[in-house]
Amino acid sequence: MKIGRILSGMRPTGKLHLGHKLGVLDNWVKLQDSYECFFEIADWHALTTHYKETESLKDNIFQMVCDWLSVGINPNKSIIFRQSDVLEHSELFILFSMFVPLPWLERNPTYKEQLREIEGRDLFTYGFLGYPVLQAADILIYRADTVPVGEDQLPHLELTREIARRFNYLYKPIFPEPQAKLSDVPALIGTDGRRMHKSYGNTIPLDTEEEDLKNIVKNMVTDPARVRRSDPGHPEVCPVFSYHKIFNIKEVDYISNACKTAEIGCVECKMKLFVKLNEFLTPSREKRKYYMEHPKEVWDIIYEGNRKAREEAQKTMDLVREAMGIKIWK
Ligand code: TRP
Ligand code: SF4
Repeated sequence: MKIGRILSGMRPTGKLHLGHKLGVLDNWVKLQDSYECFFEIADWHALTTHYKETESLKDNIFQMVCDWLSVGINPNKSIIFRQSDVLEHSELFILFSMFVPLPWLERNPTYKEQLREIEGRDLFTYGFLGYPVLQAADILIYRADTVPVGEDQLPHLELTREIARRFNYLYKPIFPEPQAKLSDVPALIGTDGRRMHKSYGNTIPLDTEEEDLKNIVKNMVTDPARVRRSDPGHPEVCPVFSYHKIFNIKEVDYISNACKTAEIGCVECKMKLFVKLNEFLTPSREKRKYYMEHPKEVWDIIYEGNRKAREEAQKTMDLVREAMGIKIWK
């Protein structure tokens, strides 16, 4: 028995990294057994910001789904589908657009922040302003009650609930008010100690090969005050140490002491981390290779997911059209 229905999604903008796995994907994998899950490749959402770079879209979709499958998203349990293959999303989006007040979108903190922060892109578009309306359509078209996302998505979830309430009030109560489900793992920091983000070049992609991983770990930032091997270190400010706390729990106490007393050097400490990280990444790396070599299997999974998603979306749209008085033909 499933206890609810989940919809979540990601924009296909490239390969995923360790932060995605710990922060979002591991959560998705766990929820697959207790919820009916819909995982969406949000390619229209990718276009809201990347409308000029469409040549890489198809490969980005493929890479992202390989990452999903490699970490354990299971197509026998969950529905993996592509947003633009379920045209009903666009219909619901257009209908929502009729009654979503503009100020709701203009005051959205994520919108304002991204307008400020994303440089080199013209984001003063209709599509970008409407981003959260499309996201609300994604969620509500499956009448999902639970949405596992990162903290950055909370304003969008709030807006989704407001749109559901407004629809239910104006027409007919058919939508649940979906709740966000945050992962309880704190965000993984980047290899340089800043927030992990592709644009900073401080991520660890999930498909990193052993030798590359070694180099990434070797280049990780350490306690800046520890200049010489004989200087005592401060593990609490060291990014390498924060990784040990996640991937090498058994040795954390030892490393903390050995660092503070200068018994262990950073090179050795990093090698220990490399070994653990490599163990952690190997199974999904292998699985990923399999899918990379069998692209047809990947596309078939999406194709089949599209079919199932469409079926559910159509049921909701039928209710929506009726509720809004635009259903004439049987
Ligand atoms: N906005 C989400 C992100 O940037 C992606 C997304 C699109 C999404 N539609 C969704 C997430 C529906 C959850 C539910 O990560
Ligand atoms: Fe960081 Fe390890 Fe060096 Fe200490 S020994 S500063 S924990 S890398």
